[in-house]
Amino acid sequence: MNTAVEICGVKFKNPVMDASGTFGSGMEYSSMVDLNRLGAVVTKGVASVPWEGNPTPRVTETPSGMMNAIGLQNPGIDVFIKRDLEFLKKYDTNIIVNVCGHSIDEYVAVVERLSDESCVSMLEINVSCPNVRFGGIAFGTDPKLLGEVTREVKKHAKQPVIMKLSPNVTSVAEMAKAAEEAGADAISLINTITAMKIDIYRKQFVLANRTGGLSGPAIRPVAVRMVYEASHAVSIPVIGMGGITSGEDAVEFMMAGARAVAVGMYNFHKPTAMIDTIEGIEKYMKKTGIEDINDIVGCV
Ligand SMILES: Cc1cc2nc3c(=O)[nH]c(=O)nc-3n(C[C@H](O)[C@H](O)[C@H](O)COP(=O)(O)O)c2cc1C
Repeated sequence: MNTAVEICGVKFKNPVMDASGTFGSGMEYSSMVDLNRLGAVVTKGVASVPWEGNPTPRVTETPSGMMNAIGLQNPGIDVFIKRDLEFLKKYDTNIIVNVCGHSIDEYVAVVERLSDESCVSMLEINVSCPNVRFGGIAFGTDPKLLGEVTREVKKHAKQPVIMKLSPNVTSVAEMAKAAEEAGADAISLINTITAMKIDIYRKQFVLANRTGGLSGPAIRPVAVRMVYEASHAVSIPVIGMGGITSGEDAVEFMMAGARAVAVGMYNFHKPTAMIDTIEGIEKYMKKTGIEDINDIVGCV
């Protein structure tokens, strides 16, 4: 059985990785999850300087999911290179660094700092965080701005560039095309869906930020639909995510058109969720007589 996939010339031993921001850089999980078994580790978003994130409370449970408004808290690229990359280098897995910024210059600053880091396999550019106003979502909901960020980042990147798309748009196909036309090597989707929760007894928003991003199984059917629409609009590879909990969920995303998949919120619920997903894919392949996982990509 073959579970290996290739995206932009990068070989993955299997199509399973974590969704940025739900696995740190793997340090805290590494006593429970053998990182060598993962197709890739995708890091939490990193910026050119440290970001404190939003005021608390910034996470809350929802039916079949959670909302977060972390606001991309991160230690900045200097600490990240010394601490997180040094840690990750020890493992036999791909490293995908998720990049955030408030402006095109800030994205480019991070991308330039990473250009000499040969251990980094790919860059994922987060233009879709609903919890930061400038940068994040503003770039991910306007095809013209998305194109501009993509073009600038591509000028400076040495690694293949994945543009991470937002579901908070009317046409995800249009955004996928804008990224492809501007030179993106791949796209990933979906980021979280903008949501709100009110505490009716305190007559207050539950999250200090008022709104947050919804993730987890509740968003899976939306994510599958968007992965299908995006992957049919472009010819570059698509990485699918949104509510994946098992191998069967991963197979669903791959049939919709994803070349690889990411497990996000479910890592909080069950730290071994990615290993379960890898084993679940193999079990599905055995049960249904599929020899090569690539044969199911976009088969519906
Ligand atoms: C707590 C939390 C933090 C996140 N941080 C990031 C981030 O730093 N960069 C990013 O691109 N996406 C971030 N995301 C979005 C996830 O990577 C993913 O796109 C989304 O949660 C949908 O997948 P899921 O339903 O499996 O969680 C975050 C999600 C959560 C729940």
